[in-house]
Amino acid sequence: MNVMVVGSGGREYSIGRVLSQDEAVEKLYFCPGNGATGTLGENIAIKDYNELADFASENAIDLTIVGPEAPLTEGIVDIFKAKGLTVFGPSKEAAQLEGSKVYMKNFLAKYGIPTARYVETDHIDTAFKFIETLPVPVVVKADGLCAGKGVIIAQSHDEAKKAVSEMLSGKAFGDAGKKVVVEEFLDGYELSMFAICDGKDYILLPAAQDHKRLLDNDEGPNTGGMGAYAPTPLVNDEIYEKVKARIVRPTLDGMQAEGAPFEGVLFIGLMIVNGEPLTLEFNVRFGDPECEILMPLLKTPASELFYKGATKQLDTLNVEFSNQYAVGVVMASRDYPYKSSEPAEIVVDETVHDEIAKYTHISYAGVSEEDGKLYATGGRVLVCVGLGDTIREARDRAYMLCGQVHYAGKKLRTDIAYQAL
Ligand code: AMP
Ligand code: GLY
Repeated sequence: MNVMVVGSGGREYSIGRVLSQDEAVEKLYFCPGNGATGTLGENIAIKDYNELADFASENAIDLTIVGPEAPLTEGIVDIFKAKGLTVFGPSKEAAQLEGSKVYMKNFLAKYGIPTARYVETDHIDTAFKFIETLPVPVVVKADGLCAGKGVIIAQSHDEAKKAVSEMLSGKAFGDAGKKVVVEEFLDGYELSMFAICDGKDYILLPAAQDHKRLLDNDEGPNTGGMGAYAPTPLVNDEIYEKVKARIVRPTLDGMQAEGAPFEGVLFIGLMIVNGEPLTLEFNVRFGDPECEILMPLLKTPASELFYKGATKQLDTLNVEFSNQYAVGVVMASRDYPYKSSEPAEIVVDETVHDEIAKYTHISYAGVSEEDGKLYATGGRVLVCVGLGDTIREARDRAYMLCGQVHYAGKKLRTDIAYQAL
């Protein structure tokens, strides 16, 4: 079949990478892709979703997989479906699970799905009153998408009130902050789980752990994620079962009842508090860099998984995962996450080491290509992925590969997967 991947990051590269090795895939397109996806398939530069859907029809694309949240919340799936195309991802309405924190929290409350206690409001007095009832820290969230910056963990009531005022006035995030969620702080450990959904059935992937802070020991500012590994031993069967029964099943049933069945990847951000999983957030797409370590663990052909996900056939799929571990270490550019950096040429040493050749690979993200050379141009440049029979082995291999990749300003954490070791 012919497949198109929408997006340009390491997440989309990693999906494309497994598709490029998939015998069922004939032609592979990326829109827009990045400087490295051109080696896996063909990059297309079409911005308008209607035009892109026409391109998909004209080029007999059998399946389109949408990576990032922006096109999903903008309704790309609805546009493709209206033209009779097969597309994997949620509708605009279902994408509100990520696009609006107010929608998400009210949905969780309506269907009794465990989450932090909260109020959602556009009235400053209501927010202030609730803040007074909470112990510190207090969590304040802007309703809309704010590129990962819309969540404030306030260390005092005054700081929480200031955050609310700045959001509601539009000063902090414009319209995305015109409504807020104020909620209790949950103290536990964070996990990411991913369910591939077809509206009624789902497949839960091995649990992953991301590393959001820039620096070792979880210090420094928040980032999109500096590394991840899976499966994590922080999840046992009991937690998997609770997540399925209390969160994923009621979410799929609830979205069906709302008339917005959820198709696509449900990314469940969890806080485990005293062994109980609570929903921190939903995203409606794969995490990045989580996707880069989950894709290589998939033994079932990716085209089959996503095609069945897009055509309500997951109940007929017997999905298989490798029994290995995967560790991904993000390499970022010098000034990430503060500002963009000068482009820097990427040089990868020639591999002489068997272990590196066999058990590692690079997933490229913020890169551009010129005259056959790759340049680091984005904040998160690439992910070095290592596979192994233990987390330690996978991690050691990932770091071996990191040692072979060079560019000016290369920046990485040295402790990815520490919580599992
Ligand atoms: P969100 O975008 O809602 O996932 O929030 C971003 C990050 O803020 C999460 O990954 C958590 O680390 C943190 N966070 C969000 N809500 C809470 C909460 N209620 N308690 C503790 N930490 C939170
Ligand atoms: N790695 C977290 C995210 O993609 O949002």
